[in-house]
Amino acid sequence: MSSQKMAAFPWSAGRLLLLASLLPAAVTAQATATATTNLSAVSLFPLEQNVETVNLFPMAPCGSFKLEEATIDQMQAAMKAGTLTSVQLVQCYMQRNYQTDEYINSLLQMNPDALAIAAAMDAERKAGKVRGPLHGIPFTVKDNIASKDNLETTAGSWALIGSIVPRDAFVVSKLRAAGAVLFGKATLSEWADMRSNNYSEGYSGRGGQCRSAYNFTVNPGGSSSGSAVAVSANAIAFALGTETDGSVINPAERNSIVGFKPTVGLTSRAGVVPESEHQDTVGTFGRTVRDAVYALDAIYGVDSRDSYTLAQKGKTPVGGYSQFLTNRTALKGAVFGLPWNSFWVYADPEQLRQLKQLLRLITDAGATIINGTEITDYQTIVAPWWNWDYGTSRGFANESEYTVVKVDFYNNIKSYLSELQNTKMRSLEDLVQFNYDNDGSEGGNPWPLGNPAFYSGQDGFLASLETKGIKDQTYYQALNFTQSKTRNGINDALTYKGKKLSGLLVPPDVGQSYQIAAQAGYPVITLPAGVHSATSMPFGLAIMQTAFAEAELVKWGSAIEDLQLKSNTPFKRSLPKWGNYLSRNIPLLNIYEGSD
Ligand SMILES: *[C@@H]1O[C@H](CO)[C@@H](O)[C@H](O)[C@H]1NC(C)=O
Ligand SMILES: *[C@@H]1O[C@H](CO)[C@@H](O)[C@H](O)[C@H]1NC(C)=O
Ligand SMILES: *[C@@H]1O[C@H](CO)[C@@H](O)[C@H](O)[C@H]1NC(C)=O
Ligand SMILES: *[C@@H]1O[C@H](CO)[C@@H](O)[C@H](O)[C@H]1NC(C)=O
Ligand SMILES: *[C@@H]1O[C@H](CO)[C@@H](O)[C@H](O)[C@H]1NC(C)=O
Ligand SMILES: *[C@@H]1O[C@H](CO)[C@@H](O)[C@H](O)[C@H]1NC(C)=O
Ligand SMILES: *[C@@H]1O[C@H](CO)[C@@H](O)[C@H](O)[C@H]1NC(C)=O
Repeated sequence: MSSQKMAAFPWSAGRLLLLASLLPAAVTAQATATATTNLSAVSLFPLEQNVETVNLFPMAPCGSFKLEEATIDQMQAAMKAGTLTSVQLVQCYMQRNYQTDEYINSLLQMNPDALAIAAAMDAERKAGKVRGPLHGIPFTVKDNIASKDNLETTAGSWALIGSIVPRDAFVVSKLRAAGAVLFGKATLSEWADMRSNNYSEGYSGRGGQCRSAYNFTVNPGGSSSGSAVAVSANAIAFALGTETDGSVINPAERNSIVGFKPTVGLTSRAGVVPESEHQDTVGTFGRTVRDAVYALDAIYGVDSRDSYTLAQKGKTPVGGYSQFLTNRTALKGAVFGLPWNSFWVYADPEQLRQLKQLLRLITDAGATIINGTEITDYQTIVAPWWNWDYGTSRGFANESEYTVVKVDFYNNIKSYLSELQNTKMRSLEDLVQFNYDNDGSEGGNPWPLGNPAFYSGQDGFLASLETKGIKDQTYYQALNFTQSKTRNGINDALTYKGKKLSGLLVPPDVGQSYQIAAQAGYPVITLPAGVHSATSMPFGLAIMQTAFAEAELVKWGSAIEDLQLKSNTPFKRSLPKWGNYLSRNIPLLNIYEGSD
């Protein structure tokens, strides 16, 4: 029954192919003229003989340039040398998406203006102007980040199709100014997971099911699924996502890439479909720390349309964060905390074995790791598994994150919708009704009505609706409790014998780690670290810090990454092997992934 339902969803091929006919003729001609790719040289088809290997979806070179796993610096060097153009980069990523999107479905919509923007960036470069490290570099944004152009912004929901946003999201306008090329919108978990509490991660009514290139049958990580999967599969250079409680860190760590979740208030949420003003933040994905940091440098800043960004004044480094990128020698003298009982005890044994070897490598490089620097009151505030309504589970709605998010969403989405044109959607009430009216595609009702990907229907929306956005005593108590407990808790764990630690090393596959940081609004970086043998799904190693301590995350993240790359450790980024690439199960599995 479920596969029959899914067969009615007509996306992929049509929505990509349509694009070719939309290209301005001049751009197409120029693109063709500059392309040197020999399209017949490599079969782009996944051949059965290559099953379960990294060669299943071979990536064609981009002219003379090896695009697969290329860093942004390498792309810049080739463009500087005149052996690569931005138009070529866009073309090559188009080719990659035509090849892979039927399978991983990481791209929701391609930007019909991408080639034109790239051509303009090439012309500028030719005229001697290079804006910076992102000049001419293609990127995608999660479909809940607005762009005022020929792309839709819908958070994956049909409810917002055709709506017109007032302007680019602040982060998009910053990336345009940096010369980056908006390639398209990435698939995601619809409404960034706000709508349902039991759902297929990475699924949206409009975008369909995104799948991880490591294993098609299991949760690909979310809610910024397509952003992370695309970077991991070399289907884009870098990407933006958003996080309320794990939506950057989780998909990054599950796809063996770097995810950077900044302090709430470092990156403006103006033009981002909201969940909660207290926890939402825009983050970045890259295959390397440097790539993720270039993206962060481009998007952070004070924005008059998001008052939370005022908090960063005086707390950001002149010249940006990339100046803190370093190498493994920096680890000599670093002192990290290990909140063992708070988070590590929840990691599965296989993951623990691998991460412990990585920790050993870090201490061998000269760092000190202090085991047992705990989050104060972790026994109370850290849930036994990811549970954003844990306060209520303990019997105290006035101490629950979900109490805050439910109320915030009702109000924040109303503000967001109020600025849209060309839509009848004005409130959460309208969205809920839309989902009921379009039950088969949007799953207004729980399965077996509705849609199997939205197993619990729209219970998240209904829970928010029930609050009517009223900020009562329970709300304010919950807000104060979740923020102050987690902030104090992290700050305490970061202080050892009166001295400030370099960071807390945590296993981000344990969702409670980013959950505590989410409630605090504090920053996290995750690095690729290992792979589960039973599912082939990766996991990361993350560093947590206090508010606006991103420079520390850049420094230690890049130092550990350099150590990973320069040593013989297998505990670093690995390429996907496209496991179970012919599976099309929905919903995806949420299973125990340790091998023992
Ligand atoms: C393209 O690749 C094919 C197969 O490797 C080769 O036979 C052909 O000569 C190439 N064409 C050009 C123009 O390089
Ligand atoms: C969530 O949905 C799955 C089906 O995808 C179902 O097997 C499971 O029991 C549900 N979990 C809860 C807590 O309802
Ligand atoms: C590592 O970083 C240090 C300090 O920034 C620098 O002096 C050194 O040259 C770097 N070493 C390598 C191998 O890049
Ligand atoms: C940290 O301490 C706990 C005991 O409290 C121990 O079980 C664990 O193995 C230690 N971790 C490391 C990495 O040494
Ligand atoms: C939540 O309510 C309980 C009473 O039901 C009270 O004991 C507790 O102190 C409250 N928590 C906060 C954070 O106000
Ligand atoms: C906020 O919570 C902290 C403890 O977490 C408490 O000390 C403080 O009194 C609370 N403030 C308000 C206004 O409730
Ligand atoms: C993908 O996950 C499924 C479900 O656990 C598992 O049966 C399968 O072996 C995994 N595939 C790979 C390639 O690891």
